[in-house]
Amino acid sequence: MKKKIAILFGGQSTEHEVSRSSGASVLRNIDQSKYDIYPIGITKEGLWFEYTGAVENIEDGKWETDEYYKIADGQNLLFNKEVDVVFPVLHGLFGEDGTIQGMCKLSNIPCVGPGVMASAICMDKIYTKYLLEKFNVKQADYVVVNAFEYDQNKELIIDKIEKKLGYSVFIKPSNGGSSVGISKAHNKSELMLGVEEALKYDRKILVEQAINAREIEVAVLGNDSPEASVPGEVIPAKEFYDYEAKYKSEASKLLIPAALSSVKLDVIKAEAIRIYQILDCAGMARVDFLVDKETEEVYLNEVNTIPGFTKISMYPKMWQATGKTYIGLIDELIELAIERNNK
Ligand SMILES: Nc1ncnc2c1ncn2[C@@H]1O[C@H](COP(=O)(O)OP(=O)(O)O)[C@@H](O)[C@H]1O
Ligand SMILES: [Mg+2]
Repeated sequence: MKKKIAILFGGQSTEHEVSRSSGASVLRNIDQSKYDIYPIGITKEGLWFEYTGAVENIEDGKWETDEYYKIADGQNLLFNKEVDVVFPVLHGLFGEDGTIQGMCKLSNIPCVGPGVMASAICMDKIYTKYLLEKFNVKQADYVVVNAFEYDQNKELIIDKIEKKLGYSVFIKPSNGGSSVGISKAHNKSELMLGVEEALKYDRKILVEQAINAREIEVAVLGNDSPEASVPGEVIPAKEFYDYEAKYKSEASKLLIPAALSSVKLDVIKAEAIRIYQILDCAGMARVDFLVDKETEEVYLNEVNTIPGFTKISMYPKMWQATGKTYIGLIDELIELAIERNNK
């Protein structure tokens, strides 16, 4: 019997649109001779629908008003165990953060990607830092800012950041993605604006020393014995890899493999696997590093447990360069989800 696979797309995060593209790509490419597919769209408001209309309508968002093909309540498919595996092609909060993973766990349905705890930790940049520090994973110096404390005494906090980090710094919501709410500050006024901006997205934020770095990413796949892809490099079209440089600008370049020595590439691959295992990831994750342009020192930037998944996204492309096809990758992820659920 064919396995029934729910493909979740959209979702309530700031990365809703990105998820629609990733989801559409999975739907276009998944092997329909092996699986019965249940596409489930989640609106920004958090309503779930099984959607059986055209995939183009998912990409441009028209699916939401395509009432004829919105055939059922998508959550019921999970709660009533009508599907065998869930593939949440959702980025950001309410998808990549352990919440959907918890829902699947309650229904005892295998879910593609890391489980509840790993998803939650990787979603939260501050907690990722706290945990990896204990294992001497090199990361940029930082200061944590909490909204309540910042409101009490802005000057004191800005002062602390300037003393500890100097300039330039990056300011990020702790729980975020696709660079939404992130800015780079070169001076005090930019820092204050950046902090206020990031606090719109999260009540705790991270201010990080800017590294003059190349951005090197590694795709990791597996449960107990994960493998790493050849590392790739992102060359942003702008001063940093912001939302526009990621999705709108043609000029950002992807280079696979990254132009580093093979010794360096091996060091980065091994570190990616070590980090994946410390965080107790399963299924997949994309581990992103910053490599100092001068010293080639390797800093962890972040771990994405549901990385961009269009055919031209880094995660599938790095696997392609390592010898795994997009369609085969989807099969492996489904098998890994089933394997992990059974133990
Ligand atoms: N400490 C840093 N030094 C240099 N560049 C950084 C630093 N932190 C973030 N960036 C830049 O900002 C981008 C987005 O930051 P990131 O932490 O990856 O957030 P997101 O989860 O939104 O992708 C990175 O791809 C990189 O271009
Ligand atoms: Mg990133």
